[in-house]
Amino acid sequence: MKKALITGINGQDGSYLAEFLLSQGYDVYGIVKRNSVAENQTDRINHLVEVHKEYGDMTDLASLMRMVQDIKPDEVYNLAAQSHVRISFDQPIYTTNVVGIGTLNLLEAIKTIKPDAKFYQASSSEMFGNSVDLDGYQRETTPMNPVSPYGCSKLFAYNICRNYRNSYGMFISNGILFNHESPRRGTNFVTNKVIKAAVRIKAGLETKLALGNLDSSRDWGHAKDYVQAMWMILQHDCPDDFVCATGLTHTVKELVDYVFDKLDLRPENHIVIDPRYNRPEELSRLKGDPTKIKTTLGWKPTYTFETMLDEMMDHWKREYNI
Ligand code: NAP
Ligand code: GDD
Repeated sequence: MKKALITGINGQDGSYLAEFLLSQGYDVYGIVKRNSVAENQTDRINHLVEVHKEYGDMTDLASLMRMVQDIKPDEVYNLAAQSHVRISFDQPIYTTNVVGIGTLNLLEAIKTIKPDAKFYQASSSEMFGNSVDLDGYQRETTPMNPVSPYGCSKLFAYNICRNYRNSYGMFISNGILFNHESPRRGTNFVTNKVIKAAVRIKAGLETKLALGNLDSSRDWGHAKDYVQAMWMILQHDCPDDFVCATGLTHTVKELVDYVFDKLDLRPENHIVIDPRYNRPEELSRLKGDPTKIKTTLGWKPTYTFETMLDEMMDHWKREYNI
């Protein structure tokens, strides 16, 4: 039985990845960060009773070393992060400590104790910033010029992973994932924020939804498809870096229009623009080219933008009984 260690197991992706790895017969271990409300530590994985949960923190090297020593994992998926881009402007140092130094802490623990473990790094399309190739896509070779503290710290983590791979011959791969969503998405990310609020408006529980920039566009996929990509990346015969995206992009306004239209609501009656939700520097447009992961690993998404949003709407409609 292969052993997998997941950091960020209680996050959106960690919970789907744990489900997927259990279905593949893995023994799954997860690092859980201490929370004063104990129940909130494992909200998204309480149904996965087989998962071994261990207290730890990416900023606490000793806790990571203890876990790697005890578990001796075959595969490590590093998903832990302060993953909210807007919040990274308010907490740049904490974000960098978790995302950048945290990744280095984990690499050091693996290098010292279990150097033959395969390592997946959750890299991000946010690393590209506003760099775009002439054909309008971002791909593995597109220059990376991040525009947020989160993006800058993800780029450090991406580079230190490549450096450890080349320096020490470790099996370390980056998945450069574009935005991916699901009913388990945090409700302060734009998709779930819009959908939850629209359903609450439909249910008569509120009337207004405050948003920031409606003109930016994102390449949105479904988290379930993307965690399979993570696993496929580690099953490849050599370590490498892969973009994972749908190849399509939509503006935030298109997202709002689709959701409100489906619920028979008129956005102009409910949306208010609040500059609080703008970023000091914005990443305007993301559209990824998934050719490499499709041709090399055979990955392809099963959800469309629309089926993903429909699933998320169904989730919130059930929650509010409408
Ligand atoms: P998420 O829902 O925000 O989950 C992040 C996880 O990291 C949570 O379990 C969180 O625990 C944990 N964590 C935060 N700080 C930690 C610390 N100091 N020590 C240990 N654990 C800590 O993020 P996600 O959407 O699943 O994304 C997974 C990874 O992929 C992240 O690294 C993210 O940056 C990256 N990524 C995401 C996307 C996307 O569109 N979703 C795209 C590209 C890359 P608590 O909940 O207890 O805080
Ligand atoms: N969160 C949020 N809230 N975003 C808003 C809002 C709002 O009220 N109004 C407009 N937006 C715009 C943001 O300015 C951004 O252009 C877009 O909606 C998407 O924002 P998020 O859903 O917060 O995601 P993100 O693209 O910043 O970051 C996500 O994707 C990255 C990959 O590209 C996160 O999951 C990151 O962790 C991930 O790396």
